[in-house]
Amino acid sequence: MTNFKNYSSQQVHFHSGLNLIFGVNGSGKTNILDAIHYLALTKSHFVPQDRMSVKYDTDFFRIEGKFISHTEKLKVIIKYQSSQKKIEVNDKLIGKQGDHIGAIGIVFIAPDDLDIIDGLSALRRKYMDTSLSQSDHEYLMQLSVYKKLLDQRNSYFKQAEAPDTVYIQVLNEKMAPCAKYIYQKRKIFCEELVPKFTQYYADISDQKEKVNIRYSTDLDRCSFLELMQESEKVDLRHRITSKGIHRDDLIFTIHDHEARYTASQGQKKTFLVGLFLAQADYLYHTMQSEPILLLDDVFDKLDQERMKHLLAALHSEKQRQIILTDTSKDRLAAIFQSVSRSAHYLEVKNASVLEID
Ligand SMILES: Nc1ncnc2c1ncn2[C@@H]1O[C@H](COP(=O)(O)OP(=O)(O)OP(=O)(O)O)[C@@H](O)[C@H]1O
Ligand SMILES: [Mg+2]
Repeated sequence: MTNFKNYSSQQVHFHSGLNLIFGVNGSGKTNILDAIHYLALTKSHFVPQDRMSVKYDTDFFRIEGKFISHTEKLKVIIKYQSSQKKIEVNDKLIGKQGDHIGAIGIVFIAPDDLDIIDGLSALRRKYMDTSLSQSDHEYLMQLSVYKKLLDQRNSYFKQAEAPDTVYIQVLNEKMAPCAKYIYQKRKIFCEELVPKFTQYYADISDQKEKVNIRYSTDLDRCSFLELMQESEKVDLRHRITSKGIHRDDLIFTIHDHEARYTASQGQKKTFLVGLFLAQADYLYHTMQSEPILLLDDVFDKLDQERMKHLLAALHSEKQRQIILTDTSKDRLAAIFQSVSRSAHYLEVKNASVLEID
């Protein structure tokens, strides 16, 4: 990393199994995970604009990562300067950012992701989209076309004095195949996800709670064109596209009640971890290679038993590279020991990383 967030110039090496990054609050642990997120998904997990990741008082950042899978080696370089981002993979410039997504599978769990359970539905759609876009390039394309057409439809509603329903129908027909593709893929994704998720949840909670996930979408009961027809009057009145796959949601339940209202903090955390471990399995299954697990502060709020069960669940995947952050080394080292797992330790102090073996 060069001039990336609080790092001026820093190299970090990770081992193939468990890696623990530890250090005090604000030292730069999460920033390291974010650099890996950049290399895989071409953007930050946290900030909406690339310029926010440039170290204060400098004018560019550069991140380079070397990735090794059982089939190939990838060297990825991301450089951002003068409002321009360039991505190089194995010394070749990538034309479109989307073309790189899917080359490196990652699963990122950050504490703010708890909002997935009780926040806006956009976060749950993002969860589905991140899973599907990494493993299916066509999904990423269809989603991007759908979003562009949706923007076009909404701005037309806002600008036109008397919207022309024939033009709206033309847009509907262009959106329909994208919506159908996205709907079908999300449906299959959820069917594969739910059994994996419930198994992880049961393992971590020691079977204490009954949980479920349901994909909620209007396309289950009618086609996209029928849906647009049905909602046209409301859309014309409110001048917005009120229905469509951009309104899909995932409903999380615990003991048949909506988790967002009833789950405790530890239960929500268990939900979150279960969701992302299931995502990791899904990516492994569809991409034919293990994703890298980036777990930012996941142990916070989990009791001792759940922490142990979580590590045991991670342990069953011996091949998987896992990078964890925590403020305390000793707390986690004790749990690693209790499940007989060794780890590579990296201490972050004064914006530099010290590797301890
Ligand atoms: N663009 C930037 N330039 C310089 N420093 C930055 C930039 N963006 C963030 N920082 C600094 O990075 C630090 C936060 O780093 P990070 O979030 O990685 O900390 P952390 O070790 O994960 O802390 P915590 O334990 O609280 O989660 C803050 O001190 C913040 O000021
Ligand atoms: Mg952090």
